Amino acid sequence: MNACPTEAPPVPVSAPIAFHKLVKDSHVHGSLYTDPAIWNAELRQIWGRTWVYVGHESEVPNANDYVMKSIGPEPVIMTRGRDGRVHLLHNRCPHRGNRVCMTEQGNARSFTCPYHGWTFANDGALKGWPFPSGYEGVDRSELGLGRVARVDSYRGFVFGSLAAEGPSLQEHLGAAMRSIDALCETSPEGEVEITAGFLKHKVRANWKFLVENETDGYHPSFVHASIFEVAQSGIGSLYSAESTAVSRDFGNGHTENDLRPEFRKRDQPLSWFGTTADKLPEYVAKMNAAYGEEKARRILIDGTPHIMIFPNLFIAEIQIFVIQPVAVDETIQHVTALQFKGAPDLNRRLRQQTMGSVGPAGFLLADDAEMYERTQMGVQMRNPEWLFLGRGKHRERRDEDGFLIGDNTDEVPSRGIWRHYRALMEAA
Ligand code: FES
Ligand SMILES: [Fe+2]
Repeated sequence: MNACPTEAPPVPVSAPIAFHKLVKDSHVHGSLYTDPAIWNAELRQIWGRTWVYVGHESEVPNANDYVMKSIGPEPVIMTRGRDGRVHLLHNRCPHRGNRVCMTEQGNARSFTCPYHGWTFANDGALKGWPFPSGYEGVDRSELGLGRVARVDSYRGFVFGSLAAEGPSLQEHLGAAMRSIDALCETSPEGEVEITAGFLKHKVRANWKFLVENETDGYHPSFVHASIFEVAQSGIGSLYSAESTAVSRDFGNGHTENDLRPEFRKRDQPLSWFGTTADKLPEYVAKMNAAYGEEKARRILIDGTPHIMIFPNLFIAEIQIFVIQPVAVDETIQHVTALQFKGAPDLNRRLRQQTMGSVGPAGFLLADDAEMYERTQMGVQMRNPEWLFLGRGKHRERRDEDGFLIGDNTDEVPSRGIWRHYRALMEAA
């Protein structure tokens, strides 16, 4: 006997939204951040289809480890099975829909649903149910936890796609893979570890405001002026009108602020981290041993990337931010310090700097959050109806790899994000 119906019920289809009328070259319509119908369409066309960053393999280092994650607003459990494979499971009991896992992380060979006690292996298979005589003839193999349709990883970064078909993860990441490579090379062992724990920042704003802001090189001079001043940091000049850093659109919605031209001008290893090589002698010695002095010096001058990988992974030089949309006007940003394998002295400073800048008493995210919430209030108004993203359009150019670039304060990234957004929303 088949336990599940094989035919999907008809899905109600609402009138198509004319995205070409809402997303223009240098303008986007305010309703894109507020309209519940658009939010529902995004759940289908973006969060239900594209590759979404879920977590890092180092968060489940041992067999049977698990951690609660999400794909868009949907909770998923990332587990490592007994065989060492990473699984992404929907946190929804196939019996009556209850959540089977309520603990943020742990180690468990199975999950037992609290409602009627069904038990599932950590690869999703239904292992058993109480009072089994009531299920005579029912096929257990069809009543496991839902598995995320596609799971893949790149250098330990695990992504999931709720669509069974579509571009591969490598096709989706494209040139962003090179940035992940560069990030991993900051470790003398070539690996990132996500082990510092997460801070969660909830903002009353649409998720796209956060995505755009991550590579908006225009705002730091104003929004973050106070923290730059207090910390006497050299970051401000990277985002000035005179900066030689560039903004870049990698395509597929991935964008960056490439700060390397400024760091190369300074020609100081670790200047991107606001320190000098003599403060981290152990780390520098390990990097020299791993890569050779010349390459290690280049890595330590260039620093780590500042890249927004569409739709939800922001690699922010010394942290990662994971953007989780929860409602049309509510988003959670999960933030953690990057940790590099084999670099304990660097890692300690990375944790301290992260607490200082984006921790509960840090200014950096608090200042951004204030902007997100005020812009969310602003786009409720309809005069004017449009937002203008035309900064630097006249000086957009192509780099040697053919990617669109602009000055670091230009809105090349925002325009790139919206081009990709429109393509996804208009896809059949
Ligand atoms: S809802 Fe999970 S066992 Fe009933
Ligand atoms: Fe900011």
